Amino acid sequence: MGQTHLMFVFFAVFMRSQFCTAQDKEPFNFNFFQNDYHIDTERIELVRYDKNYLKRYEFRTFKYNRTCTAFNITFCYVMDHFDMKKLEIVAQAYKFASNEYRLFPARFGFNFCDAIQKNMFGMEDFRNCGNFTRCSVEKGKTYHVCNWKINESKFPPLIPTGRYMIEFTHSYLSHEVVVIRGYGGVVRPFA
Ligand SMILES: *[C@@H]1O[C@H](CO)[C@@H](O)[C@H](O)[C@H]1NC(C)=O
Ligand SMILES: *[C@@H]1O[C@H](CO)[C@@H](O)[C@H](O)[C@H]1NC(C)=O
Ligand SMILES: *[C@@H]1O[C@H](CO)[C@@H](O)[C@H](O)[C@H]1NC(C)=O
Ligand SMILES: *[C@@H]1O[C@H](CO)[C@@H](O)[C@H](O)[C@H]1NC(C)=O
Repeated sequence: MGQTHLMFVFFAVFMRSQFCTAQDKEPFNFNFFQNDYHIDTERIELVRYDKNYLKRYEFRTFKYNRTCTAFNITFCYVMDHFDMKKLEIVAQAYKFASNEYRLFPARFGFNFCDAIQKNMFGMEDFRNCGNFTRCSVEKGKTYHVCNWKINESKFPPLIPTGRYMIEFTHSYLSHEVVVIRGYGGVVRPFA
């Protein structure tokens, strides 16, 4: 029981999500809610981006106050006829063990604009500060999202305690556009 059982459930949930999006075309419910762990936010880093699509993509991580970490995000798309509604993301989790991040059996795909609409990870709050207020961009214009904080209640349930890295690969019509990595811990202080 315990950890092993949780891992299994977690794995099953995500395998299901992957099959549903890849095969059935049946929308999986990504309207996550959890209240059994806290997230210790570390940072988000940019790994690479395609300069044919983006001129700029920056994440700044800072302490918003004593207890809360926030991000400022700046980006500028330069692709002709870029339709943000077609931006798809695959998230792959890695768990820290024996001094390195190792592939963890959690992988799922979602549409960027859907994720904002469903408030996954708290993404709905993108519009609260800055000028990225709708899920669309104009070519060559710079957009800012400021003071964004993740909403831990909008993360998937049943994730085992530990340190994680999640790699988010964004693609547009099957072409890789940008890859970012988020680092943080799943903490259950009183478990
Ligand atoms: C830090 O900011 C968050 C988000 O606004 C707020 O919920 C929290 O109470 C603040 N914490 C402190 C110690 O001010
Ligand atoms: C968003 O704000 C920044 C700086 O405040 C500005 O440079 C940029 O042009 C704005 N973008 C749009 C689409 O209005
Ligand atoms: C984040 O963005 C806000 C609004 O533009 C700005 O006031 C603040 O200084 C920025 N914080 C950092 C750490 O860059
Ligand atoms: C997180 O999301 C939940 C559910 O949408 C909402 O009730 C809550 O106010 C949000 N928390 C923060 C800190 O924004």
